[in-house]
Amino acid sequence: MKNIILIGMSGTGKTTVGKNLSSKLGMEFLDTDIFIEQMEKNKIEDIFSLYGEAYFRRLESCAIDKLYEKENIIISTGGGMILSDKFIKLKEKGIAILLESSIDNIVNNIKNSTTVRPLLNNQENLYERINTLYNNRKKTYKFLADFTIFVDNKSIDLIVYEI
Ligand code: S3P
Repeated sequence: MKNIILIGMSGTGKTTVGKNLSSKLGMEFLDTDIFIEQMEKNKIEDIFSLYGEAYFRRLESCAIDKLYEKENIIISTGGGMILSDKFIKLKEKGIAILLESSIDNIVNNIKNSTTVRPLLNNQENLYERINTLYNNRKKTYKFLADFTIFVDNKSIDLIVYEI
């Protein structure tokens, strides 16, 4: 079985969907942010604040090199991992599924989440911030996605079923 690679903006449910999909299909689950935290022995927010975004992006590329070896897993990617030139390499062994959502839904999910997201930690102007990030990435998400699932107003079970 090919890997299943979940892509999309923060707050679209990649991790929750990935974990559910993993128990349904009996496949291993891996979250790239957690993988990077284990690799670096440091938290994502500390990596950003100590070394900056460019350094974090290099870690994402490095993680791709390591994940390339893996088979039969579900990978939930950080929202910006698709920006890496190496992302295409991950796709050689997997199917990329884009979780797409309205900006309002993302804002709502992020406001209700306890995950620290360094690029979105300012709750003011959250809508504009997400909208700008999404517009900058939209073409890349669409180009890389083999399938797109719209997640607004859907239960996790339904999203998992559609995948
Ligand atoms: C990021 C998304 C985050 C995390 C980092 C950067 C982004 O992951 O990788 O904060 O650039 O969109 P999630 O998509 O899991 O929130």
